[in-house]
Amino acid sequence: MWCPTVERCDCKQAVKKWNEYDAEQKRLKAEEERRKRNEAEQARINRLLGQSGIGKRFQQRRFDTFRTDNSARKKAYQIAKDYADNFAMFMRDGIGLYIEGTNGTGKTHLAAAIAMQLMTEQHIQCICKTAGDLLLDIKSAFDREGVNEKQVLQVYKDVSLLIVDDLGKEQCTDWSISTLYSILNDRYEKMLPTIITTNYNSDDLVRVLTPKGYDNYKARAIISRLREVSKVLTMAWEDMRQTK
Ligand SMILES: Nc1ncnc2c1ncn2[C@@H]1O[C@H](COP(=O)(O)OP(=O)(O)OP(=O)(O)O)[C@@H](O)[C@H]1O
Ligand SMILES: [Mg+2]
Repeated sequence: MWCPTVERCDCKQAVKKWNEYDAEQKRLKAEEERRKRNEAEQARINRLLGQSGIGKRFQQRRFDTFRTDNSARKKAYQIAKDYADNFAMFMRDGIGLYIEGTNGTGKTHLAAAIAMQLMTEQHIQCICKTAGDLLLDIKSAFDREGVNEKQVLQVYKDVSLLIVDDLGKEQCTDWSISTLYSILNDRYEKMLPTIITTNYNSDDLVRVLTPKGYDNYKARAIISRLREVSKVLTMAWEDMRQTK
């Protein structure tokens, strides 16, 4: 009679082989399910935010296009690459990156390279936005049909990796600092990693994030939390935009 399944021999060697085969099949199935879940989640994020936030220009900013022609750039590259390669461990411990430095040194380049590697090779959901765009997305959710502000806020609070580019450049208001605090504090509590890039040192960042006439405790609380759970990477050298 035709049998649709392979009949399994029960000798010791065959049982061992079949056990290995079954374990591999189980692993592949779990991997496929994880990939599908991540794709569905990324599709949900895209529906809510339009896209992951990595603009066309920054999709070219990958590790293999980052020049490591001096020791400082090489060290920055190694820290960022190590972060991307070992993301599972950093994710487990809720560790992010705090990238500070002067203009045009490659801060956004390395942050985008991390996101590109994680999204394309490991199917990990990342959002990479300037702080200004991130806040704008939440504001514009007021006007979009079927999407509300709370949903967008929740996406930022839940995404596996949030990259906030250019922190401190956005216009600061009581609403903006409260919104940033709500997102970043929530991620801190949940031990979800965040990467930020900024041109300001800690004191100046507190200053530019605080709206005029307001107490600076929210800005201080944000920076203190970020620095506590991040590797700090300082990138201060010549502006690569000028040397191209
Ligand atoms: N080491 C590098 N190798 C190749 N290109 C680089 C390197 N560093 C910077 N660049 C390029 O220089 C430009 C500026 O880099 P990037 O935008 O990452 O700077 P930034 O540090 O984020 O600056 P800003 O503080 O002004 O936002 C980009 O086009 C980037 O790809
Ligand atoms: Mg930048």
